[in-house]
Amino acid sequence: MPGSPALNLNPVMDEIMGETAFAYLELARKLRSQGRRVISFGIGQPDFVTPEHIREAAKKALDEGFTGYTETAGIPELREAIADYLNTRYKSDVKPEEVIVTTGAKTAIFLALAAYIRPGDEVIIPEPSYYAYAQVTKLFGGRPVYVPMDFEPGYGFKLNIDRIEEKVTSKTRIIVVNNPHNPTGSIFLKDQLEALVDLARERGILIAADEIYDNFVYSGVEFTSLLSWEDWRDYLLYVNGFSKTFSMTGWRLGYLVVRREVAPKIIELATSVYSCPPSIAQKGGVAALRGPWEPVKRMIETFEERARILYEELSKAPGIEAYMPQGAFYMFPRVKGLAEALNADVDTLVNKLLYEKGVLVLPGKAFPDKAGRWHVRISFATSTSEVREGARIIRELAESTAG
Ligand SMILES: Cc1ncc(COP(=O)(O)O)c(C=O)c1O
Repeated sequence: MPGSPALNLNPVMDEIMGETAFAYLELARKLRSQGRRVISFGIGQPDFVTPEHIREAAKKALDEGFTGYTETAGIPELREAIADYLNTRYKSDVKPEEVIVTTGAKTAIFLALAAYIRPGDEVIIPEPSYYAYAQVTKLFGGRPVYVPMDFEPGYGFKLNIDRIEEKVTSKTRIIVVNNPHNPTGSIFLKDQLEALVDLARERGILIAADEIYDNFVYSGVEFTSLLSWEDWRDYLLYVNGFSKTFSMTGWRLGYLVVRREVAPKIIELATSVYSCPPSIAQKGGVAALRGPWEPVKRMIETFEERARILYEELSKAPGIEAYMPQGAFYMFPRVKGLAEALNADVDTLVNKLLYEKGVLVLPGKAFPDKAGRWHVRISFATSTSEVREGARIIRELAESTAG
């Protein structure tokens, strides 16, 4: 008798990796359940509860029995609110019918890549990178082509446009641009984005822009959305969502913006995958975008204060090359000096910090491929007092190691 067909997975599944942050989240939970204290700089999830007016809108929807399937692309008032938000902020001219509301930005990434990637296509991913783009690429027979960004100590990360250009071939279908950037907390300069847009226009390549952190932009930093270019419809697949800005990670609400000619086809695919985004979450989404925005502003001020605390502590730590994050809620410092002083690799350093010091950071290689191997990701989406204490513990480890 042949082996169980239930064990005979599509071989592509061997290539799919999960999200390291979720694995470490589980580990931190386990250690805490054993009575250990863990300061977690692991998961990228704001430690704030969703603002009250958003929760109230969802409760009202629930009480009114708004609990059935909705339109796959989202309720009209939400598609309109999203278009208004983008057009007000970025002076774009997005039409509601070009907005597809999804079950989180992750699903928007999935739909965008699924709709365009043919087997053998190449997808250029500046690295370090959020892990999901490569997984979906592989699932549809595409090949992730990682292009390292430049690390400038004291500054952060920059795209290297020349290097990206060198990697473009006749098979290149998409370039991914996540800005503000996870895992580095960097924001890309307008002239670099302009160069990418030029490249996309000249070579007939798509740009998948993931701007889920577009509200996490710190003082003195300029953020330019890829929706700001007038001809965006020719090359842009635009992803954003509610998880980070409104601290709505569990609500599962995001969106994809694509030109109107292709939206109906992508909506058909979405119907087959998840029918519609959660009904009550969508009502919450309308309230979120219509405001008030004060709770969001206060949260972002808090994040900036944490970024500063983290930067001030770690910039004093020997063997750690820190920089002030420009956006999102991450720092991705190089820790090569500290790891080498400990005679360790970064995984060992991460384990030492977790098991001996009770501080969780993520190893940089979780943000494939190789560019992050001497870095760690520190997410400051945890309380300000924990950021202060965790940063002090890391600095003290670095100081005691340096002797
Ligand atoms: C860059 C980036 N894109 C997308 C997501 C997924 O967001 P969502 O919760 O909306 O699926 C995340 C979450 O960590 C992210 O960091």
